[in-house]
Amino acid sequence: MNKLIPAPEKFELLSSEQYGYTAADAERIFDENLPYEGYRLRADGDGLKIYCSSDVGYFYGKVTAEWLSADGKMPHAEILDRPVFGYRGFMIDTARHFFPVETLLNRIEVAARLKLNVFHWHLSDDQGWRAQIEAYPKLTEIGSFRTDTRGDGKPVKGFYTKEDMRKVVEFAAERHVSVLPEIDFPGHMSAAIAAYPSLSCDGKEIAVKDSFGIHENVLCAGKETSYRFIDTVIDELSEIFPFKYFHIGGDEALRLKWLECEDCQRKIAEEDLADEEELQAYMMNRAAEKLAEKGKTAIVWNDGMKGENISESIVMQYWKESPDYLNRAVSAAKAGAKILVSPFSAYYFDYPYGMTPLKKTFKFNPVPKGVPERSVLGVECELWTEYVTDEATLDKRLYPRIAATAERGWSKFHTDYDDFKLRLTAAYNMFDNLGVKYATINEADPNPVAGLKELFKFGINALDGTLIESFKRLKLNKKRLKEKYSRKR
Ligand code: ACM
Ligand code: ZN
Repeated sequence: MNKLIPAPEKFELLSSEQYGYTAADAERIFDENLPYEGYRLRADGDGLKIYCSSDVGYFYGKVTAEWLSADGKMPHAEILDRPVFGYRGFMIDTARHFFPVETLLNRIEVAARLKLNVFHWHLSDDQGWRAQIEAYPKLTEIGSFRTDTRGDGKPVKGFYTKEDMRKVVEFAAERHVSVLPEIDFPGHMSAAIAAYPSLSCDGKEIAVKDSFGIHENVLCAGKETSYRFIDTVIDELSEIFPFKYFHIGGDEALRLKWLECEDCQRKIAEEDLADEEELQAYMMNRAAEKLAEKGKTAIVWNDGMKGENISESIVMQYWKESPDYLNRAVSAAKAGAKILVSPFSAYYFDYPYGMTPLKKTFKFNPVPKGVPERSVLGVECELWTEYVTDEATLDKRLYPRIAATAERGWSKFHTDYDDFKLRLTAAYNMFDNLGVKYATINEADPNPVAGLKELFKFGINALDGTLIESFKRLKLNKKRLKEKYSRKR
């Protein structure tokens, strides 16, 4: 194993001298003392040397050299660098709105240059199923199409063939990025249920959802056919995605249908489960066991892990941050679980800069209070696309905030914001070179008036009747559960 280098990182311009060579002229030198993803870069009169113990270390050394020599000249420098976390991810939701493969490849290219190493691909949701599954062809025949979005009359359609998904995986691997597929269940399953109504509790026909928020159609947790469905999807996607992690969703699942379903209630009794939370944990555990047979580890959003019976082998993705969820993260870490940190308040990039400015993202400490650092698997930022309908909006939301998450993945010590903004100048250069749009620094840290204006505009667009219906469902769900469990006691 690699020994850890004592100084976490060091950046020093040794003199103002510059040389006529660039990253392309690097000499690779093996150094077993460097950690897996780490590297040492030395640029002086003798040329450019990148010391590393692996291909990925060399890749990151080269990326740094490219940044340094962007103007065609390499400065005199010595750099010792390694990431803080082994998992440094970004998610794009391709279910709410569909984005073609080329768009994804380009965003992976940018991410790799920011030294992120996971692309989390949200492939299914209420508003669309995007991954081709041969055993269930209707998932894409029916589930990848919706007639419109909140009455706008514009159809949204598209899915990724197996060949498309393989292409993304291969392109990412060449840049040392792993691809994490996500199939989200038992909630957020309306598109799958529209294709195969028997996956639901009541078997009724529904349409792929054309509005956002939380919907009541969930995967039935009582019928064995649901488990066979999940196993098959895992089997087919595991052939495409070699990454050792697999995301099985688990967020925002309503219990309304489960409460009224004979199969679900029978399952609770048969398996001696305390309640619907434990029924969900049972469901997530079964998928996690299936994944474990393939040598894979499941990741679940933290609100899908409330049942006491949840397996500590599952990675908890920490997006909900209330004290209750923080306590759960601390307990899970104590029991041996790993935590993937994706706070709603700082790493949810679907929200405007008026709510989540760049500085807030940069300043966020990715080790939740009370969770030991060794229990933190890493960091991940999220781009949900309910209100991201095109590539330009996607880019403006991602860039430059994604660079702040990437920095937290690599550095605990460089927390000076002004210094970060200076480094961002080079990132903006890279964004231009790779042809992506972005928010300027002024847009990314708006003044209070501009921020409020942006937030107001976002709120007006998002908060419509369909979202109010969604809040009502949430409230009803809470009420029904309360009624059931107060009766029991
Ligand atoms: C989520 O934001 N629903 C995980
Ligand atoms: Zn059911």
